[in-house]
Amino acid sequence: MEKQVLLYEGKAKKIYSTEDPRVVWIQYKDAATAFNGEKKADIKGKGRLNNEISSLLFSLLEERGIPTHFLEKKSATEQTVQHVTIIPLEVVVRNVVAGSLAKRTGFEEGHELSRPIVEFYYKNDALGDPLFNEDHIEAMKLAKEQELLEMRALALMVNSVLLPYFAEKKVRLIDFKLEFGRNEEGALLLADEVSPDTCRLWDEQTNEKLDKDVFRRDLGELTDAYETILTRLGGALHV
Ligand code: C5P
Repeated sequence: MEKQVLLYEGKAKKIYSTEDPRVVWIQYKDAATAFNGEKKADIKGKGRLNNEISSLLFSLLEERGIPTHFLEKKSATEQTVQHVTIIPLEVVVRNVVAGSLAKRTGFEEGHELSRPIVEFYYKNDALGDPLFNEDHIEAMKLAKEQELLEMRALALMVNSVLLPYFAEKKVRLIDFKLEFGRNEEGALLLADEVSPDTCRLWDEQTNEKLDKDVFRRDLGELTDAYETILTRLGGALHV
């Protein structure tokens, strides 16, 4: 399989067609963005770290029976995935209060939740991805009731796989964001990426942040944090 035409260039990835219309080729860029693209930087080596970590986590989720778009890691910075039509929702699961939940509710960052919270945000850059509830989503026909139930159940399944997996590696899974899409056959698949760009990951002992908050909040070298995660997950630091 070869990469062919550039179909789309996003903030952190380039997407190419392949000879198979059901398969697209993703190349992770050495780019970090935050605050809806307002903060940007080129960070050497980041593309490889995201690709390695996301490939590893998608393989784990597939093994545990979660349907995902992931097919194969093709190089240090590239992978192939099933072509899907993305549902324009970001599905966030939270185990501990942090980020926008801390801001919105006044609960302190680090407050343990008594059970996971699932939230939906409408993917819309111009609006800054606003929080939507199930009624908004159904009434505005962004997804059907059944689809919402399915996404919610899959998001909680992902949490129940990743929470103990990261705990074994001495990492606390604070929260994370997922995206879902439908393939040609209409199957709902976990898509996009799962990496320290899309998860909050804190060191179990020190609560040191090992995720994109390092970039968002200028806490140090982003690649050091991502390398710590890759190493703890058993990945190789250098190709
Ligand atoms: O900012 P907030 O607290 O709502 O983020 C919740 C989780 O979703 C964090 O892990 C964050 O990294 C992730 N997220 C994301 N992409 C966005 C918004 C949030 O990956 N556009």
